[in-house]
This record gives sequence, structure tokens and C-alpha cells, in this order.
Amino acid sequence: MKVTLFGTGYVGLVTGACLAEMGNHVVCVDIDQAKVERLERGEIPIFEPGLEPIVRRNHANGQLEFTTEAAPAIGHAQIIFIAVGTPPDEDGSADLQYVLGVARSIGQHLDRYAVIVNKSTVPVGTADRVRKAVAEELAARGANIEFDVVSNPEFLKEGDAVEDCLRPDRIVIGTSSERAVDLLRKLYAPFNRNHDRTVVMDVRSAELTKYAANAMLATKISFMNEIANIAERVGADVELVRQGIGSDPRIGYHFIYPGAGYGGSCFPKDVQALERTARAVGYEARLLGAVEAVNHDQKAKLFEFIQRYFHGDLHGRTIALWGLAFKPNTDDMREASSRRLMEALWSAGAKVRAFDPEAREETQRLYGHRDDMVLCDNAYQALEGADVLAIVTEWKAFRSPDFARIRAMLKAPAIFDGRNLYEPEAVEEAGLAYYGIGRGRSLLRSE
Ligand code: UDX
Repeated sequence: MKVTLFGTGYVGLVTGACLAEMGNHVVCVDIDQAKVERLERGEIPIFEPGLEPIVRRNHANGQLEFTTEAAPAIGHAQIIFIAVGTPPDEDGSADLQYVLGVARSIGQHLDRYAVIVNKSTVPVGTADRVRKAVAEELAARGANIEFDVVSNPEFLKEGDAVEDCLRPDRIVIGTSSERAVDLLRKLYAPFNRNHDRTVVMDVRSAELTKYAANAMLATKISFMNEIANIAERVGADVELVRQGIGSDPRIGYHFIYPGAGYGGSCFPKDVQALERTARAVGYEARLLGAVEAVNHDQKAKLFEFIQRYFHGDLHGRTIALWGLAFKPNTDDMREASSRRLMEALWSAGAKVRAFDPEAREETQRLYGHRDDMVLCDNAYQALEGADVLAIVTEWKAFRSPDFARIRAMLKAPAIFDGRNLYEPEAVEEAGLAYYGIGRGRSLLRSE
């Protein structure tokens, strides 16, 4: 089928590449000329396992094209995806200017029936606004052309995005138009082998489904972090509690890992946006507010621990950091817990020596101007001249380090484990103090 996709960010590029891989002819439009040129050369702007070969192969065989020209791309397609960014504006609501900009340009150039699909995570009611924007442009040029607007949210995890896209666990199609459902069913048929994963619903329910999924996952994490905070004060081990509750299939083992807070481009933004949506219709979403507040405090935990360890004075200290990206297998630093930690350390007069297997370039771009940060080439180099070590991202490479070597290198030997990677006993046997999230030595225990 002929597909056009607006926005070659995370979602757009992965979706475009996977649709091309399934044999569709895909045109990706982006306003960023430099980015389009890079993509044409086969350079992928993000780190995402498995994406590069698919992009290169399909670009080489002509199934995947990149352009800055909206008009011919709109003329090309039976299905037009909108996958541009929806950054939060000052009050946390999703900013729809890019989505509506694309809608207007579709209205200006559409010359026959097409299905317009919202792939970006957009507030409930956006499909109606897109429909209105397209209709206004069509009316302005006196064109009488039918179209449908569908909500078809993505559920891609960074680091597994290609896999999630090629093998989705569900395909949500939100529309009341049978014509649109038929076309999308056809498009997604190759992703749907073995059994049908399509869930068809009205457009507003589809829009809300995406927020509900992310808010539920964020809630699980904040819930567990709250339990960790209690565990630490009562002298319990949250890792045992986690296993104890995860065995109940109604709770499940997934997404109940306590840690230094969730980051990334989705959870923080979507929880806030859903809270704003609720408020706009006169409902105070108390649970969502709490999920966000717990996460905010959680991102400060490692700093608090380190500060207490040094009795409030971090001046002249050097902290080694393992992991900078908001999670493993990505170079994404958006809302990463490492950023809050580093910024707090710098404000307190400490220096940072950091290592991350992928996020070096991105960290350099964000903080390269600072002289109180050194980016290292490997994990042990980060320990040179450092007082203590903090783990911020659970990269596999950090899972079984040489504790004796760490002990020998650190000046005030302690590990602050923001992802509970280690067993407290193993670390302490090597002569290091161990502070985890809701386990290990406690700096907060009351008795
Ligand atoms: C998320 C959703 O998983 C995906 O379905 C949605 O479509 C987009 O948002 P992503 O942002 O890539 O995907 O990250 P994810 O793998 O879900 O992790 C989010 C954050 O939560 C990370 O910072 C991670 O470290 C943290 N996390 C995750 C925990 O702290 N504990 C857990 O148990 C799980």
C-alpha cells in the first residue's frame, strides 16, 4: 500500500521503516532538511537496535523514501500518518501546533480520499481537531474530498521499538468509519499473523487507551518506589517484597522494579498531560498527581543519600556515575534521572566522572560546556580519583563488576545503587558500603 508519514522522530521513523519492511511504499516527510539528508545517506539519528539495517535496505530498494516536500507526499498516499512531536507546553499539556500544522497542510494538498492516522500520543479530542483543521483547508479551496481521521496509538518501547513494531501485542484502531477500518486492517494484516490483535473502538477511547496504558505502568513504578521508601525506614528489603508480590498473577513481575525514578519521553509527559486533560474537564486526578510527585522525589534519592553520607558537605568531592541514559539500550537522555542527580551534585560543589555505553555524545551535547564533568571511555576509568560510585542506569555491562577493584579505586568506598543491581552482602564483603533503593544500609531508618 502507499503510505505517507509525517515526522521522522522516534515513532515516525520506526513505524515507517517497519511498514516498508512489510512491503509497503512509504514516504517519510520531515521539515528538518539536514535530518532528511542524513537519513538518505542511511545515517540513523537515534540509537535503536535493529533499525539501521531495515532503513538502509528499504531505502536502497526504493520502498522507503525521505523528503521535505509535503505536497507530493500527500498526493502519494492512501494512508497518511501523523507522527510529529507533541512536546509539553509550560503547564504540562501536550502542545499540538505541529500535529495541527500537518493537518492543515494535508487539507491544502489532499486530492482524493485518504485515511489520516494520528500516531503521536495526543490528548483525547485531538482527532476531532485534526478533522476540523483538514476540513477548513479543504473548504477554503472549495474542494469536496472525503477523508477519515483515525487514532492508532503506538506502544513502542525505546530499545525494543523495532521488535514491538513488527510484533505488536495489540493494534488499536480508533474510528467509526468502516472504510478506514478496512484499509488499516489491510495495512496491518502482515503484523497480525497467528491471531488477530486488532482492537477496534471509537476514536476517543483509542486516544485515552494510550494514556491509560502509560499511566498504569508509571503508577506501578511509583507504587513500588513508595513501598521501597517505606521498606528503607522499617528495615525491610524491597527486593524480597517485590518477588513476594510479583508471584501473584494479578500483580505480575513486570514493571515493579523500584529505582531512581522513571524517565524518558513518554511516562513523565503522558502522566502530566492526562492529569491536565482531567483538570480541563473538571476532574482532579489525585492518583496521577501522586504518581508524578513520587517520581519527582525519587529522582532526588541518590543525591540525598550521597549528601547524607558526606554529612551534607559535597564540596570538592568527585562522584563516579555509571549510566546516564534514562534506561538501557538507548542514548536518550530525556527526563533521565542522571540529569537531576548531576545537576544537584554540581550545585553542591561536587564533580562528576561519568560513563554510559551509548549516551556519551548526547551528554556531551547537553553538558559539554561544564568543567565539573568528565565523560569517560569505560566504567573503571570513571572511578579514577572518585570518592564514591552511583549507579543510575541498569546497563547489563554494570551487572557483575569487580567489587575488589572498585574498592581499591574509590576514596570513600561506597556504592549508591539506584537500580538495585547488586546484592548488598556481595558489595559489603568487598569492603564497600552499599546503599540501594529500599534495601542495603539505610540512611533514613528511624530506630
Ligand atoms: C514507554 C512504554 O513502555 C511504552 O509502551 C510506551 O509506548 C512509551 O513509553 P519507554 O519510554 O521507551 O516506553 O520506556 P520503558 O522501557 O517503559 O521505561 C520507562 C522508565 O521506567 C525507564 O526510566 C525505566 O528505568 C523505568 N522503570 C521501568 C522503572 O523504574 N521500574 C520498572 O519496573 C520499569
